[in-house]
Amino acid sequence: MSTNVETDIIEAATAARNCALALFSKFCVGAALEAEDGTIYTGCNIESAAYELTMCAERVTIWKALSEGARKFKRIAVVVDTNRLTPPCGACRQIIWEFCGDIPVVLANLRGDTETLQMAALLPRPFDGKFLEEADAEREADAGAKS
Ligand code: THU
Repeated sequence: MSTNVETDIIEAATAARNCALALFSKFCVGAALEAEDGTIYTGCNIESAAYELTMCAERVTIWKALSEGARKFKRIAVVVDTNRLTPPCGACRQIIWEFCGDIPVVLANLRGDTETLQMAALLPRPFDGKFLEEADAEREADAGAKS
């Protein structure tokens, strides 16, 4: 585990974690996302009594940032009170990749352990909008060849 070199963003995620609404799992998560201009957006997990409607801290944070107009991001931090550092779930990896790209993901716990991983390592061979664009182009090329 590395020394803590991301203090600002980890502190923001730790503070956000205190707002977690994790009534069912008791697993409180905080996240913080730094935009290109240095603004740090934060979020926590929010659980629903209809369990599947629960939203992870990372996605709450990304939705907050995007809905306030931010579009480019530098790094994201995730803080959970676990000895083994908790990485983003699969759904969050997809959303981080789509909206933030290959940014560093800073994992931290409340004991001061941290580790930074790159999104490309967390989500190898990702699916994204480029596949849809390529499929469009291929359909257009096929239609052109037939006419
Ligand atoms: N959770 C997150 O907020 N982020 C993750 O990446 C992992 C899981 C939340 C969802 C749910 O409220 C609780 O942790 C247990 O899964």
